[in-house]
Amino acid sequence: MQHLLVTGGAGFIGSNFVRWMLAKYPDLHITVYDKLTYAGLLQNLQDVAENYADRYAFAQGDIADAARVSEVLAAHNIDTIVNFAAETHVDRSILDPDAFIQTDVYGTYVLLEAARQAGKLRYHQISTDEVYGHIEGGHRSKETDNLAPRSPYAASKAGGDHLVNSYFITYGLPITISRGANNIGPYQYPEKALPLFATNALNDQPLPIYGDGQQRRDYQFVLDHCQAVDLILRQGVIGDTYNVGTGTEMTNLQMVEILLDELGKPSSLIRHVEDRLGHDRRYCLDVQKLMALGWEPDYTHEEAIRATARWYMENPWWWEPIRNGEFKEYYQQVYGNRKVLERP
Ligand code: NAD
Ligand code: TYD
Repeated sequence: MQHLLVTGGAGFIGSNFVRWMLAKYPDLHITVYDKLTYAGLLQNLQDVAENYADRYAFAQGDIADAARVSEVLAAHNIDTIVNFAAETHVDRSILDPDAFIQTDVYGTYVLLEAARQAGKLRYHQISTDEVYGHIEGGHRSKETDNLAPRSPYAASKAGGDHLVNSYFITYGLPITISRGANNIGPYQYPEKALPLFATNALNDQPLPIYGDGQQRRDYQFVLDHCQAVDLILRQGVIGDTYNVGTGTEMTNLQMVEILLDELGKPSSLIRHVEDRLGHDRRYCLDVQKLMALGWEPDYTHEEAIRATARWYMENPWWWEPIRNGEFKEYYQQVYGNRKVLERP
């Protein structure tokens, strides 16, 4: 692994991963390949471009554009692809699934085919716990469980996973897959729950909690996820899939209470609103397989939530312009006419 192509590297997790990897490996070169959708922001990589000018490059492009992908692979002597590029937000996939199918399914296929034709490059797919669908209490999803996605986002990511596995079985492409739980941390676009709640609270606006707020998630710190991907790239078994999360869970309301406490804002900002269509009540991962590789999270849920809250408090330069741009229209579309629930 000497020259990585990080697709979607201008997004939330991708930009954290690029920063982490360049700091850790002094001989590593990284090219970020990103379409720069509403969620891809060059300011997420501003410090990276300044600090690692000799080992970092940026190429704009769509992962579904086969000619451009092949050109960039050759121009930068890429030996490893890590695919973070995706449409990622469940609520947007409910409004309009089209881009999800195009990027998360077809785009994944284009990358796999390019990797195969370039001489079987090492390929890692960033996937999600949402491909397992809603999980009943008591069970933790194992990597061998059947996939049962329930939103257009989750279904398109599951389609990507199946394609990646098929390229291993059929063509012997050296792949691995990681399925991450909910990431939180710096540079997360404020459409996702925690940064939306944090930035609303900092603006003294109500926090829209879907339904009763008793849905359960594993909120892991983004750098724990990045470390896991690094470990899987170096020590993962080719052809295998690894769950990545803390392996613990909490309700959305518990998450919000910790967040408001760290921000010094009152619980009276909480508003229960009409639920998301097809909302998965619970995700929970079994992470024994990853831990057997020697991985452990550095952050508990509470530490991750508090660290993230502090970052949003300290970095309005990053999120204020975002909230005043495309986000405004999106917010109005999703929340503008949403019913407030008196008794959830
Ligand atoms: P994000 O929405 O912040 O960033 C996605 C990035 O992909 C953006 O930079 C965007 O410009 C780029 N992109 C989108 N379509 C593209 C295309 N067609 N071609 C090239 N680039 C394109 O997403 P994120 O939260 O950083 O998620 C990254 C990956 O991790 C995704 O694959 C997602 O499914 C997965 N994941 C996310 C979470 C989470 O909690 N955020 C959890 C588990 C897995
Ligand atoms: P989100 O960050 O969209 O991730 P997921 O992909 O797990 O749905 O949402 C996390 C949880 O927070 C999920 O149960 C939905 C809930 N949620 C709200 O209650 N209100 C909101 O405005 C948003 C965006 C999410």
